[in-house]
Amino acid sequence: MHILGIETSCDETAASVVETAENGETSQLHVLSSIVSSSLALHAQTGGIIPETAAREQLKYMIPVLTRALNQAFGEVDLTNPPIDAIALTYGPGLIGSLLVGVETARTLSYLWNKPLIPVNHLLGHIYANWLVDSGERSALRAKRLALVAFPAIALVVSGGHTDLVLLKNHTEYTVLGGTRDDAAGEAFDKIGRLLGLPYPAGPVISKLAENGNPKAFSLPRPMLHSDGLDFSFSGLKTAVLNLTKQNELLAKETLQRDKSKMLADICASVEQAIVDVLVAKTIKAAKIHHATSLLLGGGVAANTLLRQTLSGLCSDSEVNFFVPAKKYCTDNAAMIAAAAVFNNNQISWREITADPELYY
Ligand code: KG4
Ligand code: ZN
Repeated sequence: MHILGIETSCDETAASVVETAENGETSQLHVLSSIVSSSLALHAQTGGIIPETAAREQLKYMIPVLTRALNQAFGEVDLTNPPIDAIALTYGPGLIGSLLVGVETARTLSYLWNKPLIPVNHLLGHIYANWLVDSGERSALRAKRLALVAFPAIALVVSGGHTDLVLLKNHTEYTVLGGTRDDAAGEAFDKIGRLLGLPYPAGPVISKLAENGNPKAFSLPRPMLHSDGLDFSFSGLKTAVLNLTKQNELLAKETLQRDKSKMLADICASVEQAIVDVLVAKTIKAAKIHHATSLLLGGGVAANTLLRQTLSGLCSDSEVNFFVPAKKYCTDNAAMIAAAAVFNNNQISWREITADPELYY
């Protein structure tokens, strides 16, 4: 089966073709193409996403991105009748203008090609990115390991808008165990980056700078680390960094450029460690409480090397199997939407689809 995925919930315009094995073996979802066009460079200039700008860019890129994804998957393809079986699309949550571009495109194609639509929750997409397998040898190993995913599983979805701990009893029954009470983890990286004068999105930049810093240089809070329950809070960390930058402003003005960059690296390393400490502690706590046999990481912040390595290390010391998507499938893409559709295959007609910007699990 071939599923065309479409993702336009935020600033990306993405399309992908994912192939399932003929025997229906779901540990082998092969990505035949995954095209992502981002308007991030435009938003970097303003320090955040402007919804109208994002949607207008998506209008420009939707058809070229779709064409490329289909051509890459099947060679030169007849666009009036491509060999796909269904169209999976993100219908929420996200920015309404952006979602509409994807929903209306998918609806029209569904009508014209006479193919069913499979609506996908973007957040579940981040979880199912774990099942994506590229071609190549390392991917063969990945496919083998995927057969080990067992339930109950705990998923940590960490992105720019969400920090959610989800308990999956199986592919269709899931419960949200906890979420953030204020900023999401990615949002915390981005807002702190802004305080430090770093470009948007700041998560990868902070992580890169942190490589040369000392994570113990500054003592930053780990909000709600020891609280009951599985909720998160990151706004206090942002305030602590604001105070820290104010305290160090005078000092920074008097120090040499070289010392300033060392100080920035130390702040970045301390911030990254604080965020990762809280994410890891709560995730492991959730896994223990619910006797999870698998741990699934997903979302843009799952591309963070410290987070991946820390969770992987802790899981290898226990009975829990740890899964994390390849970095390119952590940030928004359409292959993860096609993957989620394989497991939640509720097909609907083009007449029934509507965008839902507030959609939760
Ligand atoms: O999942 P995603 O692409 O979009 C949303 O659905 O929000 O996540 C984007 C978020 C941004 O906040 C970005 O700063 C963060 O993921 N991010 C990272 C890294 N790469 C992306 N945060 C920390 N370390 C990274 N390497
Ligand atoms: Zn996302």
